Amino acid sequence: MRRREFYYREAQRIGYRSRATFKLKQIQEKFTVFKIGDIVLDVGAAPGGWSQIATEFVGIPGRVYAVDLDFIEPIDFVISIQGDITDRKTHERLKTLIGEPVDIIISDLSPKVTGNWSTDQARQIFLSEQALRLAVSGLLKQGGKFVSKVFQGDLYEQFLAIVKQLFTVVYLYKPKASRKGSAEIYVIAKGLKKGPRKKRKPTKKVEQDD
Ligand SMILES: C[S@@+](CC[C@H](N)C(=O)[O-])C[C@H]1O[C@@H](n2cnc3c(N)ncnc32)[C@H](O)[C@@H]1O
Repeated sequence: MRRREFYYREAQRIGYRSRATFKLKQIQEKFTVFKIGDIVLDVGAAPGGWSQIATEFVGIPGRVYAVDLDFIEPIDFVISIQGDITDRKTHERLKTLIGEPVDIIISDLSPKVTGNWSTDQARQIFLSEQALRLAVSGLLKQGGKFVSKVFQGDLYEQFLAIVKQLFTVVYLYKPKASRKGSAEIYVIAKGLKKGPRKKRKPTKKVEQDD
């Protein structure tokens, strides 16, 4: 059975909303991003697989917020809004809703793909930049974590360089649940720095483990 189909069937069997859930699960197993009690914001969250499993990682004392262009069917213990992350008003709505900086921002944002790779890649990176912008606008705690999907391509290195300026440690990871030939990779950044963030640290690349 192909990898994609395997994870799709597993998601259905377990009752997860998306195959993507396994990617976050594998990220958590490898990098221990979440802990009990964390406040999490999931950006580009529909249909809600990541939010769903994030509630398991942070437990009852934690909180999970989710935002997407699309409506997210209600998920137990998740507070969702519908909004466009490229719109500053959505950033303001999220800040008002959450009321304090969060511990982790996770972003699995993807544009509607056109089939033209350079367009799709540019749009995906633009969306990831919006998630990062939201993080540094005061919504992510100092020392906080940021997990983001990115499409590798021309603009990817530039995005990565900015993440490295902003965070203390940055890992790159392709979870097993990712399609083998896909250009997506996940940036796992820990320790949002305070104030002017100039020094760059080398990226730790963790290859897919299969
Ligand atoms: C791959 S899906 C996310 C899957 C999700 N992580 C899960 O586990 O169910 C990408 C999402 O990004 C959302 N998206 C794309 N552009 C957006 C934007 N400008 N603002 C908010 N969400 C956006 C899409 O609507 C889509 O639901």
